[in-house]
Amino acid sequence: MTTTTPRPATAAGAVGTAHPRVEGLEKVTGAARYAAEFPLPGLAHGWLVVSRVARGRIRSIETGPVLAMPGVLAVLHHGNAPRLNTDFEGLFGRPDQTAAVFQHDRVPHAGWPVALIVAETPEQARAAAESLTVTYDEEPHDIAFTADRPDACTVDDHMPGVTEKGDLEAELAASAAVVDAEYTTPEEHHAMMEPHAATARWEDGRLDLLDSNQGTTRVQRELAGLFALDPAGIRVRSEHIGGGFGSKGLRAHQVAAAMAARVLDRPVRVVLTRRQMFSLTGHRSPTVQRVRLGAGADGRLRALEHRSLNRTSTVHEFLEPAAIPARVMYDADAHRTAMEMVRLDVPSPTWMRAPGEAPGSFALESALDELAEKLGLDPIELRLRNDPERGPVSGLPFAGRNLAACFREGARRFGWAGRDPRPGVRREGRWLLGTGTAAASFGAGAGPSTATLTAEPDGTFTVRIAAADIGTGARTALTLVAADALKVTPDRVRVRIGDSAFGPAMIAGGSTGTRSWSWAVMAAAEELRERLALAPDIPAEGITVRADTTEALGTLSQKERHSFGAQFAEVAVDPATGEVRVRRMLGIFAAGRIVNPLTARSQLVGGMTWGLSMALHEEGVRDRAFGGLYGGDLAGYHIASHADVPAIEADWVDDPDPEDPVGIKGIGEIGIVGAAAAVANAVWHATGVRHRHLPIRPDRVIAAGAPDA
Ligand code: MOS
Repeated sequence: MTTTTPRPATAAGAVGTAHPRVEGLEKVTGAARYAAEFPLPGLAHGWLVVSRVARGRIRSIETGPVLAMPGVLAVLHHGNAPRLNTDFEGLFGRPDQTAAVFQHDRVPHAGWPVALIVAETPEQARAAAESLTVTYDEEPHDIAFTADRPDACTVDDHMPGVTEKGDLEAELAASAAVVDAEYTTPEEHHAMMEPHAATARWEDGRLDLLDSNQGTTRVQRELAGLFALDPAGIRVRSEHIGGGFGSKGLRAHQVAAAMAARVLDRPVRVVLTRRQMFSLTGHRSPTVQRVRLGAGADGRLRALEHRSLNRTSTVHEFLEPAAIPARVMYDADAHRTAMEMVRLDVPSPTWMRAPGEAPGSFALESALDELAEKLGLDPIELRLRNDPERGPVSGLPFAGRNLAACFREGARRFGWAGRDPRPGVRREGRWLLGTGTAAASFGAGAGPSTATLTAEPDGTFTVRIAAADIGTGARTALTLVAADALKVTPDRVRVRIGDSAFGPAMIAGGSTGTRSWSWAVMAAAEELRERLALAPDIPAEGITVRADTTEALGTLSQKERHSFGAQFAEVAVDPATGEVRVRRMLGIFAAGRIVNPLTARSQLVGGMTWGLSMALHEEGVRDRAFGGLYGGDLAGYHIASHADVPAIEADWVDDPDPEDPVGIKGIGEIGIVGAAAAVANAVWHATGVRHRHLPIRPDRVIAAGAPDA
């Protein structure tokens, strides 16, 4: 038996100091195993076959010839697959039924999973998948996403679809300046580095899944629903994840792997190809948005209307809530937001980094810039004059709203003062130069989580929590939080995550992960310190305490809780070639207490880079004739690469949330919010031409013409 007394950490504590990733060495040496990298005896390999038609019914699947191919063990399809229970609620509503594979003969979109080939090697499975003959009774499909769809409908999806107050038309009529514009954003894809992969094993009726996901609790619960099992009979592990961005929930491949493992009574691994990821793992829906703004000569908004329409599949209702920023950012005497969707024969969209805010802020923050131009007001000044004291729709007070501080600090560091407001006047050789700005916000939430904390006899501490580190540095952040809570140095804390056996916890999503899990770790640490104060002797098995934040979260005050930010961009535009180069970007954020500046900066810069990519490059283009994507892979889908990314700097102002035990708000998504608008506003400033349709491709810049010299 060893006795230990926690050793005090440095006076300043670990939270707030730059700390490299605790698993960094494992990752760079290849010791860290990702979902498809675990060697397992008897492992069989599954390969999905996806539909080539966009709508219809499967007429036949000729399994005979492929079953005779080398190594092929089974072909699963709607005619022979185990039946699933599809009628259940997941942690976040009814899950996307794309994951309920092989339950019927309907094909709702191109790239729909129709069969799984299982073989001894991935190559054998792939060869069989490529030679499987599937015939279809094809039906006409409809993928035409336009602003005037008569079948668009409003839904209340965790939030009201429509909010309104005041007389919009009257206020617009009485306004000194009015903007009425339509903005569009295209289909966009997550394109994380690590493909989706899962390995399933059954033992004594219990399912064991090695996976790459954003929340083992969520995947466990949804698998339990589908297979009609007690969640306790399912263990999901996801230790290292090469990016998620909203796409790594329960998908077709985990379910197909679990089915095949049960049928064959062998472990089965299914890895998605990059092309399959483009149809099976969600994407950001395209949007059509209309913004109407009216303001008095003083810049005060009298009217604000933001309407958005997104596209979803026929199997899942997914609302891309693009009008959310208007409900948070600006008030007006007449204020209306409305969000609609239309169901088409396309794959299901899903959450993608800042769902709602990313496309919504492009439209709203572009419209604000247009209004500033019409009023002859500086774009920052216009935003400051419309910085509300309460939630424009909720009427609730803000739990901190340091947007003005972000703009002040950003303007100073970016060198905004003295900017010539006229567009198209700065030149450098063939380049036209311009600068732009935009505001950002993203909700700061937390979800119920449990954590266990063990005081080990050797003086170290072990945290166990079903958290997910999707590349954010969550494991490291929790190490720092636990160290401070225990008043020890971080080297005495080990954090184990990514295992549903650790008890239920929030997903890495909605920018809520670190806040949700830290809360549970803080609560567990508090209890452990009390226990150690009473009985400092630690037995050989250690002392373990467990905390659950469900009750504490229920007592949080009703407030508008958000992170805020100010985005700045400088661009150079060559009107002859249509080339737009971003020269520099700066983002200043008020995003709660920053736990680890090293990984936080990286995450914010990553989001801003994505905003640049969204502004200039990313666009999934569907072929009307076959309903699938042109170039649905990383060769055809253009993402900003190193050469496109200039000096990007992210920083923050002091903004701790007084109601959070650590002061955290959340930084996962806000980096992308407003970034595309800042770039588009800079392109206007450079050229005098408004680009309301993303991406701002060279052909669009050329078509817009050069400004008068
Ligand atoms: Mo995020 S889009 O909530 O992973």
